[in-house]
Amino acid sequence: MSADDFIVTPWHVEGDIDYDKLVQKFGTEKISVELQNRIKKITGEDHFMLRRGIFFSHREMNRILDDYEKGNKFFLYTGRGPSGHTHIGHLIPWAFAKWLQKKFDVNMYFQLTDDEKFFSKPNLTLEDTEKFAYENALDFIALGFNPEKTKIIINTKNIQTLYPIAAQVAKKINFSNTKATFGFTNETNLGMIFYTSLQSAPCFIEDKPVLIPLGVDQDPHFRLTRDIAPKIGKPKPALIHNIMIPALEGPGGKMSASDENGTVYTTDAPNVVKKKINKYAFSGGRPDIEEHRRLGGNPDIDVSYQYLRIFFEPDDNKLRSIYEDYKSGKLLSGELKAILIEKINTFLAVHQEKREKAREKIDQFLFENK
Ligand code: TRP
Repeated sequence: MSADDFIVTPWHVEGDIDYDKLVQKFGTEKISVELQNRIKKITGEDHFMLRRGIFFSHREMNRILDDYEKGNKFFLYTGRGPSGHTHIGHLIPWAFAKWLQKKFDVNMYFQLTDDEKFFSKPNLTLEDTEKFAYENALDFIALGFNPEKTKIIINTKNIQTLYPIAAQVAKKINFSNTKATFGFTNETNLGMIFYTSLQSAPCFIEDKPVLIPLGVDQDPHFRLTRDIAPKIGKPKPALIHNIMIPALEGPGGKMSASDENGTVYTTDAPNVVKKKINKYAFSGGRPDIEEHRRLGGNPDIDVSYQYLRIFFEPDDNKLRSIYEDYKSGKLLSGELKAILIEKINTFLAVHQEKREKAREKIDQFLFENK
């Protein structure tokens, strides 16, 4: 792989992603200023993730808004493959989904694909992925979704509901379609080959159009879903994509739940967060203080700065002064890391408390098969 190459698939992300190229490659649309303004006008709020291009791409978001303005509601859907504890990168689409739910007052489905991660991870048992599914559900609930309008689907528990829909989907996707989309080979297990039909199923769980906020790596599944939707007489799912949060060690690769040190988990203690950021967060600073003061740092490649931009510092004025101070050399790398550590730990203190309280609420959220 050459320096400016990158790979983005649901099971593998590698390299320094060029998002403009990715939009072309995937055939999605960039979120235009017009679309940003339209969302701002309808919701009455200028969400920082849209303003900063954290959500950068979409498929048919305008159709969802056209329908909404005619009085036809949509529903929201996103998900998580429970291969480990939740890390802070997962919170991006979930936090945004929570905001959309509040603004549009719509139903939300959250799919936990314990089967998928069992199929795709050689070292995980079905018991492991089931355990993580419940742990991940706590993080999701902790974000504050409306309990009246939100359901959590766990694939192995809700298969009775999912299967009739998945069967409709599976009949319309052939092996060469999935092979071309995901690069499957003769060694790929059958679970993986069938899996897209299960990730598609929640798109059709209600008789309304769906909007899916998601990491752009998951787009290929829904490209297939969109192709077959008319063939089964259903509306195509609309999507809104966020960028991948970089791993702590820096450009190249998304944060992976299986790389302990490249990742901040929502379950990490304050001293663990501090150690990880100080030790592993890729720095855009200069090798020594004298040089840093003289030449300044590079916030654009600095992972601590990127985490502030992507999630932890929604205030543009504060973010701008951090950017400028770092670039001018006034702010040192250690000081920038200290700002991020403080932000993450303040967030996690509240989140972890809500996460524990969610244990009592979980039953209210779990989808019940009819
Ligand atoms: N496959 C996703 C993952 O590995 C989980 C998932 C299921 C999902 N349904 C989804 C993600 C819908 C986004 C939208 O994380």
